[in-house]
Amino acid sequence: MQQLVIGAGSAIAQALIQQSLQQGDSIVAVSRQASSAEESSAGSRLRRLQCDYTESSIDAVCAELRESGFAFDRVTICNGILHHESLSPEKRLENVSLDRLETVMRINAFVPLLWVKALKPLLKASRKPCVITALSARVGSIADNHSGGWYAYRASKAALNMMMKTAALEYAREAKYVRFLLFHPGTTDTPLSKPFQRNVKPENLFSPDFVAAKLMAIQGNTETGGSIQFIDWQSTHVPW
Ligand SMILES: NC(=O)c1ccc[n+]([C@@H]2O[C@H](COP(=O)([O-])OP(=O)(O)OC[C@H]3O[C@@H](n4cnc5c(N)ncnc54)[C@H](OP(=O)(O)O)[C@@H]3O)[C@@H](O)[C@H]2O)c1
Repeated sequence: MQQLVIGAGSAIAQALIQQSLQQGDSIVAVSRQASSAEESSAGSRLRRLQCDYTESSIDAVCAELRESGFAFDRVTICNGILHHESLSPEKRLENVSLDRLETVMRINAFVPLLWVKALKPLLKASRKPCVITALSARVGSIADNHSGGWYAYRASKAALNMMMKTAALEYAREAKYVRFLLFHPGTTDTPLSKPFQRNVKPENLFSPDFVAAKLMAIQGNTETGGSIQFIDWQSTHVPW
């Protein structure tokens, strides 16, 4: 199986890549980071590409993939931020800033959509069943928002869901063999959730390996109908 993993520096992505390599898949891994010596030892089944996620750089990666003749069975987009050194999720309206909203929206919603746009010619040409997964989050569910807060992150995941739903409708017309998955991994022990793990019960904090295995099983389940699903690690549908 040929896989494209975007945002491959994510802890969940790294677990997905390792498990997929172990089952014999070929992976193209896209990240801001250049490859390390250890990763190169996986041999020709792992190809690393660097990308700064500007529109031109995404287009250049997709053109290179198309010229190289890749025909992906799975595309998994892992990019997402909740915080960084000068950005933390808003507890109240007073914390909202345009800069924070724009940064989080760009990385969490706009970048994934640019990938889905740039990959369309390649996926149409390959005429192969393919699952495009974007890592979403339950907090992006409008119906499930009972506690508020985290304006930028919530809104970015809701926007991601809407953009993927809209793209799925277009792909269903032009490339029927492509289906979409919006995946909520549950609270996973990664740098993204680190500052917010204090109140999470140990049994509710998953390892990236556990979550990657659940995701791979769901991606492999071709029985699940419809052009897009918003689903969690237990295969339960999340309300939009
Ligand atoms: N951990 C959780 O509890 C949890 C819960 C719900 C949903 N999720 C979602 O799961 C996904 C993976 O997260 P993770 O937990 O594995 O977190 P992580 O290890 O912190 O990964 C961060 C991801 O965001 C990308 N990223 C960071 N800064 C970026 C920037 N400036 N521009 C573009 N991309 C940038 C990274 O891409 P590079 O590879 O290029 O570095 C990487 O893919 C995210 O979409 C997250 O929202 C996680």
